[in-house]
Order: sequence, then structure tokens, then C-alpha cells
Amino acid sequence: MSTDGPVLEVRDLSTWFDTPRGTVRAVDGVSLTLDRGRTLGIVGESGCGKTVLARSIMNLLPKRAALPAGGEVLLDGRLIRGLGIKEMRKLWGVEVAMVFQDPMTSLNPVVKIGQQITEGLHEHFDLKGREARAMAVELLRSVGLPAPERRLDEYPHQLSGGMRQRVTVAIALSCGPRLLIADEPTTALDVTVQRQILDLLEDQQRQRHMAMILVTHDLGVVANRTDEIAVMYAGQVVERAPTTTLFRHMRHPYTEALLGSIPRLEYPSHTPLQTIPGRPPDLAAPPAGCRFAPRCRYAQDRCLAEEPPLLPVDDPVEFARLRGTGADPAVAGSHVHRCFFPVGTDAGEEALARNVAEGRTAAGMPLTAEGVVDLLATLDAGVAEPVPTADTDATTEADDDAADDRGGAGGPADDAPPVSDEQAVR
Ligand SMILES: Nc1ncnc2c1ncn2[C@@H]1O[C@H](COP(=O)(O)OP(=O)(O)O)[C@@H](O)[C@H]1O
Ligand code: SF4
Ligand SMILES: [Mg+2]
Repeated sequence: MSTDGPVLEVRDLSTWFDTPRGTVRAVDGVSLTLDRGRTLGIVGESGCGKTVLARSIMNLLPKRAALPAGGEVLLDGRLIRGLGIKEMRKLWGVEVAMVFQDPMTSLNPVVKIGQQITEGLHEHFDLKGREARAMAVELLRSVGLPAPERRLDEYPHQLSGGMRQRVTVAIALSCGPRLLIADEPTTALDVTVQRQILDLLEDQQRQRHMAMILVTHDLGVVANRTDEIAVMYAGQVVERAPTTTLFRHMRHPYTEALLGSIPRLEYPSHTPLQTIPGRPPDLAAPPAGCRFAPRCRYAQDRCLAEEPPLLPVDDPVEFARLRGTGADPAVAGSHVHRCFFPVGTDAGEEALARNVAEGRTAAGMPLTAEGVVDLLATLDAGVAEPVPTADTDATTEADDDAADDRGGAGGPADDAPPVSDEQAVR
């Protein structure tokens, strides 16, 4: 295991699915790097390929359906793309671990919490018996689970959703992974516990100096919790930048539109949120040219004919330097985007003004001056706080009560679902 260089390198990664509708290009040429101790946010609407990207990195996709269409994934400099389950089992948990959206599908419903935590400790460190139990209690305590000794002998259904997610975080952390991937870890949770889980992940990432990928559909979630953000649209990264740069100097119209859809505390309660018109494209038949063009307020004729490449922002010198060193500029550049008429540039402003004057974009989307003014006012409000959560300070006691309401002593539910893919990742 090397300690220099990035923990994760993803190079031009594509994962496609063979379906009756045709080939779905779920991930289509994504490049990323992530260093130890850093957090990367991956953001985009539902269906943009975030989960397939996360699972491609983990080598955790259904073999029959997924076509590894190209690219490389390196963990600590070691190529892992295409490794089989036997090889990956040695890496899951120790090198890379994942927290999934729904803790109920990642925990095994018929196995006690204690056993689920100690499995990895046994497999990777040969810890057994009392020693393993003591470590499990310590892990549960570190993720803020009340009465950890008691929890070891309980089943997942006896815990509240928030507590179950704490347990999955404990399991993911149990073998000290160098990279943690959290895929929408709070989406299935009540709003009152969302922030607690995000705080927990952030604390653990800092304490352990891990690399972390936080996947979310909500730009507000990653605003204050990441070092860098990659915005995904239709299977591709359309913009990537250090977090503060992305919020202050975003270039891609999709990033701008995502930012406009974040609720803000300072808005009067009746303020309508900006919604992005339309839906992401069918990845079996993405539009020619720029994939965002049908929904983009800046779209020009060129956008319908040509696919914009991922290039470093406003920095041709840096771009040339990187190319000269043999580095892939799309990987090495700190702020990159795919857009011919970027936000905040003369070309972008002229494109938008042209479309407003026409009353429509080149792709035929109607556009009013009023909509533009609204969005600009939104952007003037500055960087967003994470989505307001009214009772975010509610403690784990609230969580605890919910569990006590639901749980009883005794075994698992009779209709317990079968063990899922996620449960293999220990
Ligand atoms: N097993 C699969 N077979 C076919 N298509 C899939 C499969 N898994 C995901 N997809 C498709 O890949 C695209 C990206 O999905 P996903 O990564 O889950 O999006 P996100 O996580 O951003 O919401 C979607 O169009 C989805 O329908
Ligand atoms: S301006 Fe053109 S290239 Fe840029 S995002 Fe819009 S449609 Fe795509
Ligand atoms: Mg997803």
C-alpha cells in the first residue's frame, strides 16, 4: 500500500448497461482524483449516474448487465477495475467502504448488530470473541449510538432509521478504510436526523484522515462539507472545482441551475424555488451535442451540434502546461467544465441575452427576462447554507425514542427481505 499520491484515481471511466431499450450510458468518461484526508462531493439530479459511478469504483455492479466500457480505477495506485469478488473482498472494508442510501437494505435483517460489525474484524484482523465485541462497542460508541453494549444483541428492525444508519457507518469504518463512499447517506432519513449523520461522517472523516466521497442530489448538503465538488449530468462530470470556487465562480449552467434550486434560510417563506425545467435525458439516447442543451438557458446552435469537451477554466496556459507534462488536463486541472458559453463570461452573457431577446433558446426552450432576473437574484445571495433542518439539534434521544416505539425484544421480522448486494461489502 503506497502512502504517496492520491488514494483514488478514476480515469476516463465508463459503465454502460445492455438493456432492451439499447445501451444505457450510465457513466460515460468520468475522471477524478482524491487525496487522503480530502472530501469530494458528487452532485446531480436523480438518474445522472452517481450511484453507478460509486458502484463502479467499488466493483459492485451486476456483472451480467454492466458493460465495463472502458477506463481505469486505481486505489492507492493499484488498478482495481475488473477485479473479481474474491480479490475485492480483500479490499472492501480495509481500502474502500461504502455507506448506502437505505440502511435497511445494507444491514442483514436476520443477523444481530454485533455479529454484523464483528464479521469484518474477524475476516480482516482475525479478531474474535471478547476482543471483537469490545471493539464493536467502541465503534458503536464512536458513531454516537446510545447504549452500545445493548445494541450488539439487537436486530436492525429494533433500531430507528437514524440509528441504523449510524450502525452502517460503524460497519463501514470498522476496518479503517482509506476511502469511504457515502451514497445519499441521509436521503432515506427523517429531516431531523439528516444533519446528525452528515456531522458524524464529517467528524469521522477528519479524525481518521480518510478520503471521502459524499454523493448527493442536493448541492446544499455539500456546500460546507467538501473540499471539492464534481457536478454530474447525464453520466458525465460537467463541472469540477474546489468547493468555494464552484459556488463563487461556477461556469456550467447546470451548476447554476442546481444552485438556484437550493432553499435558503434568508428567503421569505413564500419565495418560490427555481426549478430546472424538463428532466435529465434518457441515457440510452442522449441528445447529440451538449446533453444539457434542451434544458439550458444559454443554449446556442453550436451546443446542438457539438459535444463540449471537459476543459480547464479560463486558463489556456495551465491547460497547455498540463498537456506538455503528459497529464490528462481533465484530471489534473483544478476547475474544469464542459460548456461553450460559460456562466460569468462574456460569451455566456451574450448567449443568454440573445436567447432572452429571442424569447427562446436554440433548443426551443421558452425563456423570459423575468426568469433570468429571478435566478440572478438568487445567485447574488451568495453561498448557501445546507438545507434548513428545523429540528436539526434533536438529539439521539429522539432517535432512541423512535426505536423504542418500533422495536421490541425478540428476533427479526418474519417477512425479512433477502440479503442484498450491499450486505456483501464488509
Ligand atoms: N442495473 C441497471 N440496468 C440498467 N440501467 C441501469 C442499471 N442501474 C442503473 N441504471 C441506469 O443508469 C442511470 C444512472 O443511474 P444511477 O447511477 O442510479 O443515477 P443516480 O444515482 O444519479 O440517481 C439511470 O438511467 C438508471 O436507470
Ligand atoms: S451553453 Fe451550450 S454547451 Fe453550455 S451547458 Fe448550455 S447547452 Fe451546454
Ligand atoms: Mg443514486
